[in-house]
Amino acid sequence: MKLSLFNESPLQIESECLVIAVSDGGPLCPSAQGLDEASGGEFSRLLETRDIETGLAKTTLLHGFKGASASRVLIVGLGKQEKLDRPRYDRACLAAGKHLRDHALRSCHIFLHEIEFGDTTSKWRLRQSALAVHRANYLYTVTKPLKNDSPLPLESAFFAGDESFRSALEQAEALALGFEKARQLGDLPANICNPAYLAQEAASIASLYRNVTLEVLEEEDMAQLGMDALLAVSRGSSNPAKLIVLQYTGAAADEQPTVLVGKGITFDSGGLSLKSGQNMMQMKYDMGGAAGVMGAFVSCAKLQLPINVVCVVAAAENMPDGNACKPGDVLTSMSGKTIEVLNTDAEGRLVLCDALTYSEKFNPRVIIDVATLTGACVVALGHHATGLMSNDDLLARQLLAAGDAIVDRAWRLPLWEDYRSQLDSPFADMKNVGGMPAGALTAACFLSRFTEEQKWAHLDNAGSSWKWGADDGATGRPAGLLTQYLLNQAGIEAI
Ligand code: BES
Ligand code: MN
Ligand code: ZN
Repeated sequence: MKLSLFNESPLQIESECLVIAVSDGGPLCPSAQGLDEASGGEFSRLLETRDIETGLAKTTLLHGFKGASASRVLIVGLGKQEKLDRPRYDRACLAAGKHLRDHALRSCHIFLHEIEFGDTTSKWRLRQSALAVHRANYLYTVTKPLKNDSPLPLESAFFAGDESFRSALEQAEALALGFEKARQLGDLPANICNPAYLAQEAASIASLYRNVTLEVLEEEDMAQLGMDALLAVSRGSSNPAKLIVLQYTGAAADEQPTVLVGKGITFDSGGLSLKSGQNMMQMKYDMGGAAGVMGAFVSCAKLQLPINVVCVVAAAENMPDGNACKPGDVLTSMSGKTIEVLNTDAEGRLVLCDALTYSEKFNPRVIIDVATLTGACVVALGHHATGLMSNDDLLARQLLAAGDAIVDRAWRLPLWEDYRSQLDSPFADMKNVGGMPAGALTAACFLSRFTEEQKWAHLDNAGSSWKWGADDGATGRPAGLLTQYLLNQAGIEAI
């Protein structure tokens, strides 16, 4: 879908559909005002009679509105003006995007960002609406191609604004691209998207963007580095593991990079600690961390941000066979620390610990790992927030702020020493499971033992990277949070 700017009046523009927001109790935005005047007060009358709905994310489609050259006007409710905030605005924009998708429109002209609220700027509102409309028109077609008669998603969206909105629109395009990449990877079934597929995908990213290089470590390379923990997870699968390393150099070569580490378990059967059928159904999404970091990497490379970023993806399948790692096995990780594997279904931390140790060689400014790590995080935060745990308060605050700013939100959970002893083992330096209490935190505690020398944050997107239900599928999160964080690090004007 193409995003562009236009600079004409809402009355004159020949459009398939104008898209305008109204709030309950707020002033009409300039384009609604214009329509109201041109129609002799018709807009206000429809509001009064409630033929135009103002409730949050409610949409009303009007045909042949008097005084407008456009064929249709889509009006989106923002709810009560005094309650309007970034998350509510985002919800309304997504609803507008979905309405356009479901009514098979090809293009539209959007004025959603005219509505003012809080401390937001019109550039931010434009960027957020462009991103939301793009996300709402995402379509998965790889294994279910469109039929001839099925409605197509929106082809192009035009946003009201002059050249001063160009950078906001470019950011929206890059963010949309990153989210889309992450979602596509997440939605692909595990019989297509295996570790080799993720490596291929990385190769296509490396060939598409400037200043990007790729290195893929094979199992022999990992064995030489002593990555026994990562390799133990992969041992029961006939698809070999890959450690995928994408490097983007947008600043001087000696500037410390931000290292993003992603859990890329392309299928998690649980291994010999086999999952139940119920719990295994969603496990193609277990590479959601890899998808999130690769999405953010794409956005960063597309924008050619003046920073250095390394993306390390630990890609493997967790399967049971005669070679598979067994409960009770003791592994020696690349760091030299030993791990008693009591549950082979706690495999994410096993691949990540070696990927985190490997990441230290880049002399990182910070390390941020993203992983669909625990069911406990889904229980704690549902599908709305990504769990955040960190050993550095500043980094944690920056990540939370980035998530709030782009409405891809995270919530911090404690990483206190108190949880540490749950991992004590009589047979090794640590166990890989900490029992039922605080499962998301003991998983993070495990990782923290491999990042003691680093400024490090862990994002658990087990709940936020996919959804069940009507809009089933991958969300691409937290590609947006990460990209916003990188934009902030790059010192790009806050919009
Ligand atoms: N990939 C799962 C976590 C998960 C669960 C992601 C639900 C998305 C939705 C992870 O590898 C896992 O199996 N974790 C176990 C850990 C336990 C054995 C300590 C879990 O959460 O049950
Ligand atoms: Mn698992
Ligand atoms: Zn897993």
